[in-house]
Amino acid sequence: MKIIFFTGKGGVGKSTLAAASAWQLSQKSRVLLVSLDPAHNLGDIFDVAITREKKKLSQTLTLMEIDLQKLSREYLEQESDVLSRTYGYLKTLNLDQYFSILKYSPGIEEYALLTGIARIIQKETAFDYIVFDTPPTGLTLRFLALPSVTTTWIDRLIHIRRQILEKRYTIHRIRGTLSSSETVLDYKEEDDDILQRLLALNETYQDLNRTLRGQDCHFVLVFNPDVLSLKESDRLMAGLRDLGLPLRLLIDNKVSRENKDMAAHVEKKIEAAAEGVPLQRISLSSPPSPESRGGLYAISENILPENW
Ligand SMILES: Nc1ncnc2c1ncn2[C@@H]1O[C@H](COP(=O)(O)OP(=O)(O)OP(=O)(O)O)[C@@H](O)[C@H]1O
Ligand SMILES: [Mg+2]
Repeated sequence: MKIIFFTGKGGVGKSTLAAASAWQLSQKSRVLLVSLDPAHNLGDIFDVAITREKKKLSQTLTLMEIDLQKLSREYLEQESDVLSRTYGYLKTLNLDQYFSILKYSPGIEEYALLTGIARIIQKETAFDYIVFDTPPTGLTLRFLALPSVTTTWIDRLIHIRRQILEKRYTIHRIRGTLSSSETVLDYKEEDDDILQRLLALNETYQDLNRTLRGQDCHFVLVFNPDVLSLKESDRLMAGLRDLGLPLRLLIDNKVSRENKDMAAHVEKKIEAAAEGVPLQRISLSSPPSPESRGGLYAISENILPENW
């Protein structure tokens, strides 16, 4: 299974090109097109109502819009459940109070989004391609950074947890259990829920990191022939490079006779920064006719390389 992320500045044509490529790929393969953008418009592009999470458009093309608020809520509920089970002995911890505030905490949306993506990649194995249409650059780079950031601090937490267990074991050996009514805290690694959960989390995020950096994952950068688009593309490329994520295609979208000099200028700069990543030009199409109800432009060019 191949995974493709369409990234780029707001309004450059990520959703349009993600939709058109998914459509092109679906002529030969089974494709799932997922919108991660809180302001979904896949339904408008294909002129269908996506009332549930998934909508089968044809035998080979399925659309999916992620409900970020629902995902964040589910994420918090799941975490709250794990916390209350793991820390059941801490009766004083008022979790309900924490969770009513925690939903406003920075980072929750990013974690929820990442969890959602991980779940889709793991679950939707019946497809040959999963094409993701991403939200604005800032949010995209933040959730993509999470697997690396998270494994770094989970490693540290695992180390601390092992030290705690070691100390507990020492105390247990010296002192023994005093009375049968006394709670004996776990000191063996395999009995400690917290350590086991940290190890499991570490594996999940490392797996995800491997998938996102792997051969079958492709990041596509979409831009337009203008200076603002150039600046944001620079930021995105730097972000992907820092995170070790594979940028595999540049798309200059909405090129016309009027802007072709600007297009050449912007392309030259971006290609120089991207070092060897292939470039594809997509022309500015005439808008869909008023009779056609969807917003899918008739894009005649093949958007993705043949060998993807
Ligand atoms: N090749 C093209 N020719 C003509 N119009 C296009 C082309 N590609 C995109 N557009 C139009 O440009 C506008 C923005 O496109 P789109 O919504 O796909 O961008 P986006 O990057 O997904 O935006 P956002 O960041 O808001 O999600 C839309 O009106 C779309 O129809
Ligand atoms: Mg969009």
